[in-house]
Amino acid sequence: MTSRPAAPRRPGLPAPGQPAFVALGSNVGDRRAHLEAALVALGATPGVRVAAVSAAYQNPPVGGPPQDDYWNAVAELVTTLSPEALAARLHAVEAAAGRVRTVPAAPRTLDLDLLSCGDEVCRTPALELPHPRATCRAFGLAPWADVAPDAVVPGTGATVLAHATRLRGREPAAFAALRRVALLRVAAPRGARPAVLPDAEALAAWRARGEGTVGLVPTMGALHEGHASLARRARAACDAVLATIFVNPLQFGPTEDLARYPRTFDADLDLLADVGADAVYAPTVDDLYPAGFSTHVDVDGPTAGFEGAARPGHFRGVATVVAKLFARTRPDRAFFGRKDAQQVAVVRRMHADLDLPGAVVVAPTVRDADGLALSSRNRYLTPDERARALAIPRALDAARARAAAGERRRDALVAAARAVLDGAADVATAYVEVVDPARFVPLAELGAAPALLVVAAKVGTTRLIDNEWLLAPGDDA
Ligand code: PAJ
Repeated sequence: MTSRPAAPRRPGLPAPGQPAFVALGSNVGDRRAHLEAALVALGATPGVRVAAVSAAYQNPPVGGPPQDDYWNAVAELVTTLSPEALAARLHAVEAAAGRVRTVPAAPRTLDLDLLSCGDEVCRTPALELPHPRATCRAFGLAPWADVAPDAVVPGTGATVLAHATRLRGREPAAFAALRRVALLRVAAPRGARPAVLPDAEALAAWRARGEGTVGLVPTMGALHEGHASLARRARAACDAVLATIFVNPLQFGPTEDLARYPRTFDADLDLLADVGADAVYAPTVDDLYPAGFSTHVDVDGPTAGFEGAARPGHFRGVATVVAKLFARTRPDRAFFGRKDAQQVAVVRRMHADLDLPGAVVVAPTVRDADGLALSSRNRYLTPDERARALAIPRALDAARARAAAGERRRDALVAAARAVLDGAADVATAYVEVVDPARFVPLAELGAAPALLVVAAKVGTTRLIDNEWLLAPGDDA
């Protein structure tokens, strides 16, 4: 296989800037089309990159004349524009979508609100930042918390997750009325397929040619929108995006699914082209583990329980391959998904302990419209199993609702989740626990910092894992 020369700094793409969050809403005509067109328009704006977008939530209109339900979403941008210039651009995109400002709370084809831009706090007649209603509307906070739970809302000292939890405690009905309805397409004109780097030599040559910052997205292929979300964040934050596709035999147990793990290389290249990845390192087992290879990385601590206990040797395999990928690719930023929360804890621990290069960036879990976390292993589920697997996100949500209502005790939170799992036919729960996200040890009570509720369950023959943030309202808000 040949590889094309890397062109990391793409013409027309500005240097990354600061994060900005935009709430999108529509309740006239084809709501999905309006939101997706707005994302295209934002992405085509010089000085703006779309880093992430939440699912669309459907919710009843608040006030105004009788009208259709809204679809709402939140997009995370990285921008070099000033807040004023960005706000002006949002107005222009709204106007182009045919929005006419009539009576307050009238139906609208497209509504774009600048929630926050960098750390800016301002109150002028032309612009208020953060948006004056940013922290008091469920339909804005729920999708915002999906896309950036740990972002601090400027001027408040509290995270988006903390605001969302507090509001959910006060207005449970408003959150219950929200329904996730669709994943929105963040369409970009399909770029060239990424350069395929089949071995260490091709990788080193690509790396030697490149200029600018490199964002690494390690994967095992069978790519889906969860992987795409990592690559999109890398695209927004770095000059070049390097994905890796390697089904790592070291992290599979002898009775696990290594042989039948889905391999969809051609489709993977298309997905990577869609998100603008520059190159993909897709080594063979021999390239990564040549004859005589005998060094492994063992991370103590966060590997002790849960997946580490259920899958002996798994994290040793993960840590070893990820350490090698850091060494070979020398990324400026490496992107991992919160979906695999224990893996995140292991990678962060190892990254700090071994002084590995660059920064570890963790992105929220992407879920299907019905709430099921995307996973390459979802392909194993029959339609019936897939329907039953929805007990997992429902269990997570039941515990979140209890936490938002003020419940802090681990036992009660776990019981709320278990009740949902136990009520689902043929879902065999392996564990449900409240853990500290860094140490991955159980917590007896929610404290001031966000905790994770982690779940593993077998649906049919497929073992699924998932997790969500839990926070007590009032803390940190
Ligand atoms: P893989 O399962 O292919 O996942 C690659 C990356 O995508 C991981 O960081 C994972 O957490 C992330 N990811 C998976 N599903 C996601 C979702 N629904 N939303 C957001 N991110 C998601 O994890 C591995 O591969 C391997 O262990 C690897 C790190 C590549 C080492 O072999």
